[in-house]
Amino acid sequence: MIGKVVGQLACSAELAALRQQLTGVEAERDRALQERQQVLRGNIRVMCRVRPAHQQQQSPSRSPAATAAFGAAHGSCIGYPLEGLLAVHDASTARQREFEFDAVFAPEASQQQVYEEVSPLVRSCADGYNVCIFAYGQTGSGKTYTMDGPADNPGINTRALQELFSIAADEVDHSWSFQVAMLEIYNEAVRDLLAMSASIGGGSGAASAAAVAAAASAHTVEVSGLPAGELPPNMDRVPGLVWRKVSNTAEVQAALREGVRARATAATALNAASSRSHALVSVKVQGVREGKAFTAMMHLVDLAGSERVDKSEVAGQQLKEAQAINKSLSALGDVVAALQRRGAHIPFRNSKLTQVLQDSLSGSSKVLLSRRQWRLLRPSTQEPAAAFEGLSHPLQPHGPADILKDHGVID
Ligand SMILES: Nc1ncnc2c1ncn2[C@@H]1O[C@H](COP(=O)(O)OP(=O)(O)OP(=O)(O)O)[C@@H](O)[C@H]1O
Ligand SMILES: [Mg+2]
Repeated sequence: MIGKVVGQLACSAELAALRQQLTGVEAERDRALQERQQVLRGNIRVMCRVRPAHQQQQSPSRSPAATAAFGAAHGSCIGYPLEGLLAVHDASTARQREFEFDAVFAPEASQQQVYEEVSPLVRSCADGYNVCIFAYGQTGSGKTYTMDGPADNPGINTRALQELFSIAADEVDHSWSFQVAMLEIYNEAVRDLLAMSASIGGGSGAASAAAVAAAASAHTVEVSGLPAGELPPNMDRVPGLVWRKVSNTAEVQAALREGVRARATAATALNAASSRSHALVSVKVQGVREGKAFTAMMHLVDLAGSERVDKSEVAGQQLKEAQAINKSLSALGDVVAALQRRGAHIPFRNSKLTQVLQDSLSGSSKVLLSRRQWRLLRPSTQEPAAAFEGLSHPLQPHGPADILKDHGVID
């Protein structure tokens, strides 16, 4: 009898071990599948999220039939005919044009639904790949909402770190470390927001405008121009940048809040709108995989508003800001185009933004590929012209002109 029980116990222990092995194999297979899917879908993915319309943007003049026909309960000229397709209806010509994306999110999409599309990229960062996620769009289109989001319904930044923590918790046999840094690029100057926050008391507003301006200049940092292969093993492209170790969501949110406050305080002191700068949350993931130590970088980027400013309408500081934004967004577009052409020369040095991001755009070594993703966010709008303007930008995978030509918007 005892022998039988011992036999049964041994059997169930063996079964449990086998089950555990099977789970491991399944997880490995899922990861490989996901990886393969990423390769098939390409390294650059473009998604589009349409922000809910504000009350005053709803169109009372659109006939109920037209609204229903276009599926636009939001009183918008934008429709969602099929998965991955966004349609813009031009009532004046009665024509509808469609734009294709890797994913399209209608206004009712939740932060979680948006995050789920991004999640495979975050997982690949935990596998040692460099990743870049951008929010691109006009002012007010929802970039900050999508990346940062309200505290009780956070966006991609917090959710990405939560997922990294949960991967680390599931894989206890690997050692992990996570650090975050925050940068702002304003008029081609790169600022270390966490360092600034420390010197102005967390950006609580107590410091005088002069002290904040002095801190902003003191924490303006240099970006190394070294090729990826020559960077130190910790991949610090910005020497001396403050990295904050984080191991739970509360620590992440505290760090993000500090950086956001420092950015807003600097903007007030410098009399600028914070949306006129690019904001970067950089995440450094260090771990050991199959006995080998790796460092992977993920940049989560809230780009400055993309609208083109007519030079005749602005002057002085605003003109300088607009020029700096146009320059850096064009530089980003040029880098993407050169990478897609597999050009011998990739013009990273043409802007601070592309210099800071270069390791995550090009792949940091022969072994580790780079993953990048572009997000496009549009305001829900009644005006087809504004929607087309929003859809023409330098970061389209095929280039704005190609897409607009393909769709007959321009000749
Ligand atoms: N999906 C959404 N659901 C609810 N509210 C949203 C959503 N997206 C944006 N908003 C709201 O719309 C307003 C503008 O959004 P947000 O500040 O994110 O725009 P932005 O693109 O960052 O603009 P800027 O270029 O000026 O920084 C905010 O009040 C934000 O809370
Ligand atoms: Mg914003």
